[in-house]
Amino acid sequence: MPGGFSQQHLDEIRSRVDIVEIVGQFVKLKRTGANWKGLCPFHTEKTPSFTVNPKRNIYHCFGCGAGGDAFSFLMRQDRVAFPEAVRTLAERAGVALPTAGRAPEVDNKLEVLRRVMALAAEFYTQSLWERGGEKARAYLDQRGVDPDVARRFGLGYAPESWNALLGVMAKQSIGEEILVQAGLALPRQNAPGFYDRFRGRLLFPIRDVQGRVVAFGGRALSGEEPKYLNSPETPLYVKGQMLYALDLAKAAIRDRGRAIIVEGYLDCLMAHQHGFGEAVAALGTAFTPAQLGLLRRYADEVLALFDADAAGQKASTRLEEMMNDVMDLQNLGWSVARTGGFEKAGHLPIRVALLPPGHDPDSLLRAEGAPALSARLEAARPLLSFVLEKALGDEDLATPRGRANAHARVALILSKVANAEEATALAREAARRLGVDSTQLWIEAQQLQGTRARGRRPAQLSETAREAGDADSWPPPVPFERDLVALLLQVDEARAELLPLLEEEDVAHLGLRLVLAALRRTPDGAPEALMAELPGDRERGLLAALLVEERKWVDTHSHVVELKRRYHIRHRKHRVHQVTRAIIDAQATGDPALPALEEELRSLQRDLQREAEAVRELALARPGLPSQRPADTQRQAETP
Ligand code: UTP
Ligand code: MN
Repeated sequence: MPGGFSQQHLDEIRSRVDIVEIVGQFVKLKRTGANWKGLCPFHTEKTPSFTVNPKRNIYHCFGCGAGGDAFSFLMRQDRVAFPEAVRTLAERAGVALPTAGRAPEVDNKLEVLRRVMALAAEFYTQSLWERGGEKARAYLDQRGVDPDVARRFGLGYAPESWNALLGVMAKQSIGEEILVQAGLALPRQNAPGFYDRFRGRLLFPIRDVQGRVVAFGGRALSGEEPKYLNSPETPLYVKGQMLYALDLAKAAIRDRGRAIIVEGYLDCLMAHQHGFGEAVAALGTAFTPAQLGLLRRYADEVLALFDADAAGQKASTRLEEMMNDVMDLQNLGWSVARTGGFEKAGHLPIRVALLPPGHDPDSLLRAEGAPALSARLEAARPLLSFVLEKALGDEDLATPRGRANAHARVALILSKVANAEEATALAREAARRLGVDSTQLWIEAQQLQGTRARGRRPAQLSETAREAGDADSWPPPVPFERDLVALLLQVDEARAELLPLLEEEDVAHLGLRLVLAALRRTPDGAPEALMAELPGDRERGLLAALLVEERKWVDTHSHVVELKRRYHIRHRKHRVHQVTRAIIDAQATGDPALPALEEELRSLQRDLQREAEAVRELALARPGLPSQRPADTQRQAETP
C-alpha cells in the first residue's frame, strides 16, 4: 500500500481526475492529436516537449524526462509528499479516504522540524546583520565575502551564548526536545537542562533542493576546534543525500549543462560570487551516488575540483573512493525519482580538475580571479582516464615490478567499468602502455569482477518489489530491453510474437521486469489495467514513460525480426561470460581445453562485433526504429 493508501483508492482517484485539467492549472496546453502539449514546468524550454496523454492518464516530458501520473505531477509541481498529493486529488475527485494510518504523524513531525529550522535560520540571519554580529561581519569582510552573496546564501551568526536560541524558541513555545531532534540543542551532561549547539560561529545554512533549511555548518571565527561544527543527521538531514547550495545552483546547472563540485562551503560560495553559479559542495563527505543522482537531474556533466594534494598520497584514497562511487552510479546507469517520473537518465560524465598546489577554489579565486579557475576547469580530464593515468604514473614502468603493480591496478580499475565500450578502449590503451595483451587484461578484470560479485545472485521477481522500494535506483535498462518492452506494450503483433519467446531472465532490469510480468498477467495490455498491476509509483512512472513515447512504428514486422536478432546477440554475450569464466578456471587448473576455449571466446567476440555493426547499419538506414528518440529530444540520454 503506497503511502498507506489502498490500491483501490488510488485507482479510483486516478480514474476520476482529468489529468489534462490538473496539469492545465499550471501549464498552458494545446491539443495535438490524441495528446496535449505545453512548455514543461520542470525545466526551461522554448519549444513544447511536455506531453499529456488523457487516454492513458499520464504525462511525460521529452526534454527533461519527467513523467508519471496525476499524483506525481502534483508532487513535483507543488513539491508535496505523496500522501498530500493523494489527499488533494481525492478531495477534487470526491473520493473519501480513510483517515486512520500513521503517515499524517510522520508528515506532521517533519513539518514541525522544518518550521523549527526555518525559525532558527531567521534568528541566526538576524543575529548576523543586527547589533552583536559585528565580529562575524568583520570575518566575512576579511574573507572577501560580498554581503549580497552572504544574504543569498542565508549566512547567519550564532551568538556567543549557551541559550540564545533556546530563549528565542521558548518564546514561540517550542520545546527543548524538538530542538534536540532538530540538532540545534544538546542536553547538558551533568545537570538537567539543555544548551545551544552553535555558539559564536558563522553559520552556513544547508538547504534542500527546494531551499528549505535542513541543517547548519558552523565556521569557527578565531581558530577554535573544530573548524567546522555541523548539524548531526536528523530526519530532515541525511548526510550524503544532499549537496550544499544545490537550491541556488540548479538553474545555472541546467542552463550551463554542467555542475561543479567543490569540497568546502566557502569554496562554493566564493565560486558563486565569481560567476560560477553552477557550483555545489559535497558537505565534507566523499561524493556519494545519491549526490551524483541528484546532480543528474540537472547536469549533463560533472566537474570535480580537487586540491592539488588530491593527487598526492593523503587524498588518493578519497579519489579511489569517489571513483568507486561514480562507477557504482554509472553502473546503475539511470535512476528514477521516488515520484515515479524519470530523472534525466543516462551516463553522467565526470571530469576531474586539479588546482594549483597550495590552493583551494576560494584561495585561487581571491588570488587570481575567475579566469584562473576557468582555465583549470577547461583542463579537466575524464575521471576514468585520470585514474588510469594515475595508476600508470605512480609506478615505474621501466621495472618488471612496477609494470606488475600497474598491471594489477589497471585490471582493478577495468573491473569496475560497466560500460563495455569504455572498458575495451581503456584495456587497449593500458595494454599498449604496459606492453601486455589486452584480452588477458580484460580476462583478469572479469576475474576480479567475479570475485566481487560472488554470492550476489540476480534478484528473483518475487523479491523485486521490495528491492525496488528500497533502492534509489534500478540497474541499467539496456536500450535493447527498453525497446523490447516498449514494442510489446505498443504493438499487438509484437506481443503475440515475442512475449511467448521471452524468459524472465531475458530482461535484467527490475522495473522492466515488473512491467513485463504485469503484461503477462494482462496480455491485452490495456494501460489502466497494467497500472493497477504495478506495485509502486516508480514502476507506474516507468510504465508511463514507455507508453507516452510517441514512437512511429514504421514497419513492425522488421522490428520484431530485428529484436529477435538483438535477442540472439544477448544470448551470445551471456556465452562470452560463461566462456570467460571457464577460461579462468582452466587457467587455474591447467585444463588442456584452454586453447579451444580461448578460440571460442575470440570467435564469439568477432561474431558480436559483426552483429553489432549490422544492427547499427540497419538502424542508420531505416527511420523510425524503436531505438530512435522522438525528434524534439536533443539529448542523447537513454530514457528507458
Ligand atoms: P577545509 O578544511 O578544506 O576547509 O574543509 P575550507 O572549506 O577551505 O574552509 P576555510 O576556507 O578554512 O574556511 C572542507 C570542507 O570540509 C568540511 C566542511 O564542509 C568544509 O567546508 N569540514 C571541514 C567539516 O565539516 N569539518 C571540519 O572540521 C573541517
Ligand atoms: Mn578554504
